[in-house]
Amino acid sequence: MSKYKYDIIHLLVKNQSQFISGQKIASLLNISRTSVWKSIEQLKEEGFMITSVSNKGHQLKSWPKNWDKHLIKLVLSSQHYFKHFEVRDEVDSTQKLAQSLLHQLDEPFIVISEHQSKGRGRFNRNWESKVNEGIWMSLVFKDQIPFEKIQTFNLFISLAIAKTIQKFVDADAVKIKWPNDIYIQDKKVCGFLTEINGNIDEVSGIICGIGINVNQTTFNDEIKDKATSIHLAADNIIDRYQLLEMLINNILKYYQLFLSVPFSDIKSEYQLYSNVWQRTLKYTQGNKIIHGKAINIEDDGQLVVIDEKGQLHKMISADIEM
Ligand code: BTN
Repeated sequence: MSKYKYDIIHLLVKNQSQFISGQKIASLLNISRTSVWKSIEQLKEEGFMITSVSNKGHQLKSWPKNWDKHLIKLVLSSQHYFKHFEVRDEVDSTQKLAQSLLHQLDEPFIVISEHQSKGRGRFNRNWESKVNEGIWMSLVFKDQIPFEKIQTFNLFISLAIAKTIQKFVDADAVKIKWPNDIYIQDKKVCGFLTEINGNIDEVSGIICGIGINVNQTTFNDEIKDKATSIHLAADNIIDRYQLLEMLINNILKYYQLFLSVPFSDIKSEYQLYSNVWQRTLKYTQGNKIIHGKAINIEDDGQLVVIDEKGQLHKMISADIEM
């Protein structure tokens, strides 16, 4: 996309509630009206729905569904943390690409892809990542963080994701399944995985891979009874750009909190969102299987589970079956 087109989109987005004349665009950008007209025609060909009316000008009605680097930059222009956006049509896994870019890019960045051929979930499970239907991205945070603080990162991030999804569906239905999943009622809508770069003394980078089911209406046989999408729960097609903008803003808000306050400051809020209380669940940690009820989450992020014999188990991570 040429520079003019990007500037024109910017103006159309800023004026989305009204028409803006070709003359005004031309004088704001210091280009000819013919260049404006040509760029607008190209934008229409690329999938931007722009209404053009003589004597009134142009108005943006909707933009293409696909991820576009310039649009992503535009909707994320109010944040100043992530400096680079790696936008792809297809990758094996955004997490893998983020890992490989980690040492080339000094500043925080986002890798996002329309499709992943080998999307990876926790415990090396496959993560279904179809075109146009979800948000498949890896966020790379670059700050020096004491190692002992890292184990609360997922708790902050899950609150940010849950609160974002809540804006689109019945708020009470959105829950966090400790430590890395977001549910709508009893079905999974989002999973994320966190990998760190650094050592036991200090962490210098966090790579957080997030998968959100946004506009799916069907899932493969393996997950169809366990998965849902925001679209299914909201009964509405979701604008992924709007969702992305809200999500990144909320994640950055909670990331700043993560850097500045202990988990105990947000613990009561987290507990309200968690769906593990009051129910006996199967917790798997490697070869160890525990059937028990979660009774508390400690200030360092460990979940306390009481098993059927009354024995307490503290966990920093586990695979939980609902
Ligand atoms: C899980 O619930 O098991 C975690 C799923 C994480 C999926 C995301 S999609 C973007 C990023 N790239 C990957 O390959 N995985 C993560």
